[in-house]
Amino acid sequence: MACTPARSCRLQVARCVHVVRASHLTAFVVAYVLVFLVANVVVLKAYWEQRQRELEEQRQWRQLSGQPARRPLGGADAFLQRLQNSVSGGRQRAVFTCADFPTLEVGRRLGFGWSKEVFAATYGGRTAAVKTVNVEGRDMRECRLTGANYTDCYGRTAEKMYREVRLLHQLRHPNIIQLYGFCMSLGRGESSVVAMVTELGEPLHQLALLQRSWEQRLRLALDAADLLQYLATSPLGPAGLADLRLEQFLAADGRLKLADLDDLQLEEPRCRSAEQCLLPSPAAAAAPLVRCTAGRCQGYNARRNQALAAPRLLAPLLEQGAPAPLNASVAALVAGYAAADRSAAEMRSRAHRLLELFQRHGYGVTDSGSAEYEPVYNATLPGHNYRCSLSSELGRCSLSVSGQREASALCSADRRCEGYVLTNRTTWTGRLMTHFKTRIVTGEVRPELNSTLYIRQTAR
Ligand SMILES: Nc1ncnc2c1ncn2[C@@H]1O[C@H](COP(=O)(O)OP(=O)(O)OP(=O)(O)O)[C@@H](O)[C@H]1O
Ligand SMILES: [Mg+2]
Repeated sequence: MACTPARSCRLQVARCVHVVRASHLTAFVVAYVLVFLVANVVVLKAYWEQRQRELEEQRQWRQLSGQPARRPLGGADAFLQRLQNSVSGGRQRAVFTCADFPTLEVGRRLGFGWSKEVFAATYGGRTAAVKTVNVEGRDMRECRLTGANYTDCYGRTAEKMYREVRLLHQLRHPNIIQLYGFCMSLGRGESSVVAMVTELGEPLHQLALLQRSWEQRLRLALDAADLLQYLATSPLGPAGLADLRLEQFLAADGRLKLADLDDLQLEEPRCRSAEQCLLPSPAAAAAPLVRCTAGRCQGYNARRNQALAAPRLLAPLLEQGAPAPLNASVAALVAGYAAADRSAAEMRSRAHRLLELFQRHGYGVTDSGSAEYEPVYNATLPGHNYRCSLSSELGRCSLSVSGQREASALCSADRRCEGYVLTNRTTWTGRLMTHFKTRIVTGEVRPELNSTLYIRQTAR
C-alpha cells in the first residue's frame, strides 16, 4: 500500500485526536478521583468531629454524674444536670417531656416579658400554654451586649425557667398554675429548646377585671387570700412575691393562678438590726412585728406580700362594684392587708367572711313591694336581654340571687326590667342564677324545665 503524504497526515491527525481523547478521559478520571477523595475527607472529618463531640459529652456526663447534686456547677450541661437532679427528687413527675413536643400544636403568642414568651397550644385535645425563652427579650439582649455568645445567653436566660419549673414542682397549690411538663434541651447555637407546658390562663389586667362580675372577682380575691396564706407557710418556707403585680396572675376556670414564679423569694431578707427590715409604706407601722432574728427579718416575706397585695391585687378585685352592704367590709379588708399587722391565716379568714356576708345580704336591694310578678313555671324567654353593671355575662343582665324576693327587688329597682328568669343553677356562692329581661313578648316564651319566668304585672 502506497503511503502518500495526504494519508500520513490523516493518520497523524487521527493519532492526535486519539491522544486528545485519551488525555480528556484521563483528566476526567483524575478529576473524578480527586472530587471523590475530597468528598470522603469532608465526610470523614465531619464524622470524626461529631464522634469527638459525642465522646466529650459522654465524658462530661460521666464526670457530672459523679458529682454531688447540690454542688454549684456552671455552664449549660450543668444547668441541665441540676434540673434533672431537682426534678427526679420532685414529688410529682411531669407528664409531658421533650418526646411529646412534636405532638404540640402551637398557636398565637399570648404574652411576653423580659425573659420569657408564652404561646397558646393544644395537645391531645387539651389546651395548654407553652412558655419558652424570649430570645428577643431584654435579658437575652443585655446578655448579648456583654459579648457573650448566643448559646451562653440562651442558657443564662433559661436559668429563670429552670427555677420556675423546679418551683412549680415543689409548690403545688390550686392557685399556682399547673405544670404539665417541660423540655430542657440545651444544644449549640439556635438548637437549644427550653420550654415548659402549663395550664392555660386568661390575663387579669384592669380591663379584664371589669368584664367580670363582682361575685366572680370575689372568688379570685378569696383565692388570693388562700394563696398568700399558703406562701406564708409553704413547704419551702415563707415565700415572698418580690414582683407582686396583677400581671403575674391569670384566671383559669374562674380561679386565680399565680403564673410567674421566677422572682419568688424563698428566704427572709438578711439583716443585722430590725431597722433593716423595712416594709412598704402603708405597712410601716407593722415594722415592730418583723424581728431581726438569727440574721434574718423573721415574718418579712408574708407581711410584705400582704402589704403589696392590698393595692395591687385585692383593691382592683374587690373595690369596683362591691354590693352596698359589703362596702365597709371590703374597705376594712383591703386596709387590713395594707397594714400587714395580722397573720396571713387571720387575714384569710377575714376575707372568707366576705363570702358569708354576700350570701346573707346579696346586693342589699330591698323590695318596695310596688310591683307584682306573675310566675310562668318551667318557662324561659330567649333574648330580650339588656346590660347591667353587676352582670356575670357580657351583653346580658345575669345576677345571682338568694331567691324570688331578691330577684323581684332587683327587677323593681331597674326601669328597664320587665321580668326575670329564675333558674335552678347555682353560682359558686350557692346563689341562684337569674336572667333579667326587658320588653317581654309572651308569644316568645319557651318551655324550660326547672326555670320560672316572672313577668312584672303592676306598673311602677
Ligand atoms: N399559662 C399562661 N396562660 C396564658 N398566658 C400566660 C401564661 N403564662 C404567662 N402568660 C402570659 O405571658 C406573659 C409573660 O409570662 P411571664 O410573666 O412568665 O414572663 P416574664 O418574662 O417572667 O415576664 P416579666 O418580665 O414581666 O416578669 C404574662 O404576663 C402573661 O400575660
Ligand atoms: Mg418574671
